[in-house]
Amino acid sequence: MADGDGEPTRQRVTTRRNVLKGAVAVGGAAALSACLEQTGGESVPSGVGDPSSLPNRQHAWNEHVRTDEHGNTLLPRHQVLLYLTLPEDGPADASDRETLESALRTLDRAYERSSDGLLYSIAYSPSYFDRFDDPLPDSIDLPGPRALSPFETPTFDEQDALLHLASDRADAILAAEEALRGEKPAVNGREMDAALTDVFAVDDRRSGFVGAGMPAERQDGLNGIPSSNPVPEESPLFMGFVAGFRQNQATEEYVTLPDGPFAGGTTKHVSNLRMRLDDWYGEQSFEERVAELFSPEHAERALVEDVGSNLGDDSGITPEMIEDVGEHARRFGRVGHAQKAARGNRTNDGTVRTLRRHFESTDDGEAGLHFPSLQREITTFEEVRAAMNGIDLTAEPTIRQRVNNGILEYIFVKRRGNFLVPPRALRALPTPTGETPGF
Ligand code: HEM
Repeated sequence: MADGDGEPTRQRVTTRRNVLKGAVAVGGAAALSACLEQTGGESVPSGVGDPSSLPNRQHAWNEHVRTDEHGNTLLPRHQVLLYLTLPEDGPADASDRETLESALRTLDRAYERSSDGLLYSIAYSPSYFDRFDDPLPDSIDLPGPRALSPFETPTFDEQDALLHLASDRADAILAAEEALRGEKPAVNGREMDAALTDVFAVDDRRSGFVGAGMPAERQDGLNGIPSSNPVPEESPLFMGFVAGFRQNQATEEYVTLPDGPFAGGTTKHVSNLRMRLDDWYGEQSFEERVAELFSPEHAERALVEDVGSNLGDDSGITPEMIEDVGEHARRFGRVGHAQKAARGNRTNDGTVRTLRRHFESTDDGEAGLHFPSLQREITTFEEVRAAMNGIDLTAEPTIRQRVNNGILEYIFVKRRGNFLVPPRALRALPTPTGETPGF
């Protein structure tokens, strides 16, 4: 009688949703088997016979993810960040390289490189490169992480490497992780000859999600979210709006290192932020939220409807809004996050400099955000963040460091890390001069 009276079907759907929603956050074998039970072992598309046929840019994801009706890319719904350390001092050796490459090649063969299968990249920190005698070439801008505002005291992620896994399929991401940890002999029908954990220790595991419905589904009882559960059902983010419009993102090509030993790679800053949204939803009207996230002019001209999908493929931040931010501060007593950050995010000819790929999180039992940003140089990210800080705007009495100053009142930086994403050919423990000796 499952479908006859409706009730049991609804219960089944709710249970299935509950399992899937918690599974990636929890991780591990039990989460995977619960997940597989719920998906009924639905097949996941397999990968390539020859991994060397894959694109050289590890960060080339855009052609392999879903897009919306405006051509904006929709990031994979489930994401995991594994922060990795090498257990011994000194540089890794040829056999470590071989082991790591073997584990990654099995993933390439096991899963289609897409949201339906698995997208991933591995990146290396400045501390990793410090293990070698040679420095990175001057052309690579990869400083260590540091505080990027006077009002934050983040923990610095200085682990050696960061493996970023992403998929629309919770079961695929969990199975890949289990196999990489050496806890599953085969993955999607491919035998694992080596595990990631034969080379690295997993220092930290962080997880997240992004997509319409996912934050609303997870908001109940979550620290940082008011008890009225205000996150709109159709919002991909806890703050209630869409982000990452095509015209306001750098292209993958633009953020790619054009030459030098790591040509084809990019740099990646990853911050982790905690959100406190009581006042965001409790004290602010919809118009005020629009003003603080986009710009006061967006609110005045009613440019944003609901979660903002009506904006199409562009946030509507114009060069005038960027230029007039000081004027907005005087006239409206507040400034918008996007208009402020965009000041640092454009070249003189208007090209966007960073490719933001942020997703939400319930790690540590609180509403949070993992914020990977790709750009050619880490300094570019630092400049954008300085623009977002809006310290210059506090000359206007109504604008305080955290109040009426975009969304700074509601977000708190917990961690920062910087990484180099090498091209695929150099993904296995490269030297600072762009080699993988013995391999
Ligand atoms: C909860 C946290 C955040 C939310 C909900 C959020 C949301 C948004 C939204 C809705 C926009 C306008 C639409 C778009 O262009 O994507 C935007 C723009 C932007 N955000 Fe954020 N953001 C957050 C945190 C950050 C952080 C930590 C940074 C780091 C620097 C950042 C950098 C930017 C930049 C640079 C733009 C402007 C893009 C441009 O037009 O040049 N955002 N953000």
